[in-house]
Amino acid sequence: MDRIHIFDTTLRDGEQVPGCQLNTIEKIEVAEALQDLGVDILEAGFPISSPGDFQSVVEISKAVREPVICALTRAVDKDIEVAAEALKYARLKRIHTGIGASDQHILHKFNSTRDKILEKAAHAAKYARNFVDDVEFYCEDAGRADNAFLARLVETVIANGATVVNIPDTTGYCLPDEFGSKIQYLFDHVSNIDKAIISVHCHNDLGMATANTLAGVSHGARQVEVTINGIGERAGNTSLEEVVMALKSRQPEFKLQNRINTRKIYPVSRLVSRLMRMPVQPNKAIVGRNAFAHSSGIHQDGVIKQRENYEIIDPQDVGIKESSIVLTARSGRAALKFNLEKLGIHFTKEELDEVYERFLTMADAKKDLDEYDLLELAGQQVERRPTHVESLAVSCGSNGAEAEVSVNIDGTNFKAKETGVGPVDATFKAIDSIMNKGIRLEEYLVQSVHGGTDDVGKVHIQVSKNGIIYYGFGSDKDVIFATAKAYIDALVKVI
Ligand code: KIV
Ligand code: ZN
Repeated sequence: MDRIHIFDTTLRDGEQVPGCQLNTIEKIEVAEALQDLGVDILEAGFPISSPGDFQSVVEISKAVREPVICALTRAVDKDIEVAAEALKYARLKRIHTGIGASDQHILHKFNSTRDKILEKAAHAAKYARNFVDDVEFYCEDAGRADNAFLARLVETVIANGATVVNIPDTTGYCLPDEFGSKIQYLFDHVSNIDKAIISVHCHNDLGMATANTLAGVSHGARQVEVTINGIGERAGNTSLEEVVMALKSRQPEFKLQNRINTRKIYPVSRLVSRLMRMPVQPNKAIVGRNAFAHSSGIHQDGVIKQRENYEIIDPQDVGIKESSIVLTARSGRAALKFNLEKLGIHFTKEELDEVYERFLTMADAKKDLDEYDLLELAGQQVERRPTHVESLAVSCGSNGAEAEVSVNIDGTNFKAKETGVGPVDATFKAIDSIMNKGIRLEEYLVQSVHGGTDDVGKVHIQVSKNGIIYYGFGSDKDVIFATAKAYIDALVKVI
């Protein structure tokens, strides 16, 4: 079967995003996770852009030995020399050089002409081949480029040694048919195209990155350039998880193989989100918190009868333990029965009818129901002790922080004082020493409501225990106090 190469650029195009910068140690952690995931090519950075990026490419080259390590350059000799130097320790190495291909870029970015661009491109591809055998050439803004000129450019760089040619839709402008036809045009008009792999690199400005990438693949591209969670410039890049799962779910149509261990997708997605401080939108395909959550009665009933009724992907295939049947006032009896049985509680049909009536009243009054609520509905003695943050005092500075917290549980105040690397860490540790729930913090997100330095901060928290996720929310003018409230809100749901 034909093979598709997965080129990951999370650490280059993804890491360019403001706020997503990683230090070298964090980059190595992500690179190792991408290696375990099975990516073929790992774009590690743009070495000439900063000494830090140079060093990261050096260290990733030493630490990660399976995938090809790729370094980005402009079509500039010095860039290429520096990239080659950064890749010195890589077992398998690739230089990714290139130049603008659209008239927009040629005229208004390079102040140049098509002929001069062809000359520069030929030189860059040839020059890079002096340092490595594997040279990828990007035709920047190919999405808006004239196809006839693009074909000349592709032919020229292949003739000068490029082994892979990247056709980026840099501005996310193309429609899927149009992008697919562009790739087809190249296959029909570039005489030496069989000497190189054609790669597609799409941006998501119109929300079409995945569709365009797949259209490119349908017309012969055999490398896809992607990032975890679709992070990247502006609206992002094509997301790895979407393309890989589309190729897998529609295998009979694509008939293409890749090396990705899809069961590692979710853990890598969480890692990237956490280290890059970039939350994943809840309804994000494949890895969003709601991607396998069913909340309406009709869907819940269907999915309980047979998962495939409403799921085209088995969550375990992407590393998610199981789908969730979320209990809300829209849920039906089947969902209630399903969740009760997971707690080991079984009812006859008549009993369930009666519990369901009480469930609806409770669900109307509360937004989401937790396991304590279910046990209470089932008439079991559950001790839900009202808990809230009574007071919090934090002192912090560049040498760390200390938090003194008082948590009121059922009318009694429990106090703890802990130190941490910062105020949040110290506050979590102080609360943990009182609540002692043995959880893992999965996500911590702070948002302002209206803007301004005196605004109210909203804090969303996700913690997990035994594979189950619990959510907490808190808001306050003091974000650390909001953090403590959100943390307690999540912890009280953990049985
Ligand atoms: O979007 C783009 O064109 C790029 C190139 C540098 C490959 O990221
Ligand atoms: Zn890009």
